[in-house]
Amino acid sequence: MEEKEIIEKLENLENELRFYQQLGAGFMVGRQKKPADEEKPAGELIGLEKETESQLFQAEEWEKLIRRIRDCRFCPLFQGRTQAVPGEGNCQARLMFVGEAPGRDEDLHGRPFVGRAGQLLTKIIEAMGFKRQDVYITNVVKCRPPENRTPRPDEVKACSPYLLHQIELINPRVIVALGKVAAEFLLQTNKSMSELRGHFGQFKDIPVMPTFHPAYLVRNEGNREIKRMVWEDMKKVVKLLESS
Ligand code: URA
Repeated sequence: MEEKEIIEKLENLENELRFYQQLGAGFMVGRQKKPADEEKPAGELIGLEKETESQLFQAEEWEKLIRRIRDCRFCPLFQGRTQAVPGEGNCQARLMFVGEAPGRDEDLHGRPFVGRAGQLLTKIIEAMGFKRQDVYITNVVKCRPPENRTPRPDEVKACSPYLLHQIELINPRVIVALGKVAAEFLLQTNKSMSELRGHFGQFKDIPVMPTFHPAYLVRNEGNREIKRMVWEDMKKVVKLLESS
């Protein structure tokens, strides 16, 4: 087969796969249904393994969720945003980080934790032995509050279905709650961070480690004790991941 022909075939295949991805698993492609096909799962009809079929379903779910977040107008924060910041990373991550809300840099780039606090978070993740792309990073609230103020309870409530859906899709082995807003939301508590940090709580059946927000570390750059505490918390997270 000539190189040109191979490239053409690969391009066709790529388009076809994109098409499957857009439509999800419940579809027929390229031929009429035969009666015997009726009972077969749609993916099988086009020769997809069950696993691939479920991956396509997940991809479609993610696509819908991200689109809903980007178009969301459930609370007044949409008025001041450049763009919503859904989250990023490995959708099958065992480890998930949940922060408060996007800041200025995140609002401009549409990505979570890319400012100074984000750079520190990346260092923490790497010190834990992971790459940023191995984990999933998101926030409780997906749009930037004015002047980076703390999100209000009504904003947290309006945005909460998105985080709940993300957690459900990822089903991580452990979640790190970065700061008070995330810890309060996931653990349904109003205890102080000093009381909460260092101890696993539970969100449904998922262990949650509350720890200080990286922005707090940035604000207290010279304070080695806070750094030490965060590192102690992260070591517990790594230990739990290693043991399961
Ligand atoms: N602070 C957060 O809580 N989230 C971000 O994405 C950035 C800063």
